[in-house]
Amino acid sequence: MWQALKAHRKDTAATPILELFEQGDRAQDFSVTACGMLFDYSKTAMDRVARKALLGLAQIRGVEPARDAMFAGDKINETEGRAVLHTALRNLDGGPVMVDGEDVMPEVLSTLDRMETFAEAVRSGAFTGQGGKITDVVNIGIGGSDLGPVMAVQALAPYHDGPRTHFVSNIDGAHIADTLRGLDPATTLIIVASKTFTTIETMTNAATARAWMGEAISDPAAQFAALSTAEEKTSAFGIAPERVFGFEDWVGGRYSMWGPIGLSIMLAVGGKAFRAFLRGAQNMDRHFQAADLAENMPVLLALTGMWHHQVCGYPTRAVLPYEQRLLRFPAYLQQMEMESNGKSVQMDGSAVTCVTGPVVWGEPGTNGQHAFYQLIHQGTMPVPCEFLIGAQSHEPELAHHNDLLKANCLAQSEALMLGRDMDEARELMKAAGLEGEELDRQAAHRVFPGNRPSTTLVYPKLTPEVLGQLVALYEHRVFVEGVILGINSYDQWGVELGKVLATKLQPVVTGEASAEGKDGSTQSLVAFLRANG
Ligand code: F6P
Repeated sequence: MWQALKAHRKDTAATPILELFEQGDRAQDFSVTACGMLFDYSKTAMDRVARKALLGLAQIRGVEPARDAMFAGDKINETEGRAVLHTALRNLDGGPVMVDGEDVMPEVLSTLDRMETFAEAVRSGAFTGQGGKITDVVNIGIGGSDLGPVMAVQALAPYHDGPRTHFVSNIDGAHIADTLRGLDPATTLIIVASKTFTTIETMTNAATARAWMGEAISDPAAQFAALSTAEEKTSAFGIAPERVFGFEDWVGGRYSMWGPIGLSIMLAVGGKAFRAFLRGAQNMDRHFQAADLAENMPVLLALTGMWHHQVCGYPTRAVLPYEQRLLRFPAYLQQMEMESNGKSVQMDGSAVTCVTGPVVWGEPGTNGQHAFYQLIHQGTMPVPCEFLIGAQSHEPELAHHNDLLKANCLAQSEALMLGRDMDEARELMKAAGLEGEELDRQAAHRVFPGNRPSTTLVYPKLTPEVLGQLVALYEHRVFVEGVILGINSYDQWGVELGKVLATKLQPVVTGEASAEGKDGSTQSLVAFLRANG
């Protein structure tokens, strides 16, 4: 199937994207709406033949039964023997979801209620620190216990009416030092967010925060909460059970902000807005479950990505939100997509038969335009771009900013597709008064190859509900890609080796152990660090 798609790509590569618009209403045909959002994939080289083949691939690879198995609580994370049920965390209507013969929904909903009761107590001042009402919340976590909440809290800034929210993730002491500086320990709540409660970065930062608080107040543990699947470890750390919010191992770290790991989001925006966020995700879940593959937004987003990466061979994709508050969305997607699908072994242990990935990166527009878009427009390697933009902003009084933002977003996808040929560039130079060889030389620098693919996702307004829809859309995209590739998107063994070696290297770095036996480069780096440390 991949071979047939690649052959088709080879046969049609010479047809410019623009020419495809001559065949009927391509904008209509190559776009899909769901949950009030529009996904336009018409500015790509995918034609009807390619789309049909990709949809066939999705069907043959069993996307629909796999999807149903995930929602039903089957243990599709086979390498860890776990169900994959982040969707249960936003199953607000509470229809039964069975794991090992037991309905998990009563527990999910009662934890959500407990989170809300606690969050409202903090927000109202019913729960206080030793110095009074909580003014600041510090979420200590990393990876999935950090990136989702950081991204969402920033995205929902207009809805903040709770305490200030801060995030510490890096083991680099600079992160916690810079965050705690200026905070009052007597009015700060520390949340230790860790699925396993063993992650070295998080446990080290948590201990530092406890020591910082212990210097100022008599009972620091009273101002700690924990979000974890490991309740015995949270109590060993000294956190009282009423401030421990547990979840089950069927919630993957990078899919966990819908449950307790989202407590910092709830503290910032309140229970009602948090539930709206869950509702949005649930709406997308329903669309994903019910829509035909050919009308299914997550499926089409996945297939467009696979067209670009697996078929056209483009190694990266840029995610470019024209929404400043989605500043951390690309970083969040990096973990979601690259930790999920950056694998080289299929579910049965055999090697994958095509490339996996791709590298996901990005920054909000218009900032990116003044940084790396040069390469996107004129570099030698096409970068498929995924633009995101809202129809409305939260700043109606600054409508002219928003109009410019929209114009810039649309201009970029247009420029990527149209490009500028040599004749046009020469005309420009002629108009600037150049002639002869100098005209040709200068014109060459002003040529844009064009025919570069992009997609655009338009949503009404970045509300909590829409944010939920957006994130769920990308989660399901990753799932579909994983199923088609035949890999397990829900484990992450690739992060283990570095952790093991770091533990062994720690005494070497401090000088308690010798670097003997290490490779030459590592020995020399250790020597330099020690000599200059
Ligand atoms: O990076 C590996 C990883 O296990 C991620 O998958 C996870 O989100 C992160 O570490 C943090 O893990 P924990 O929540 O257990 O501290």
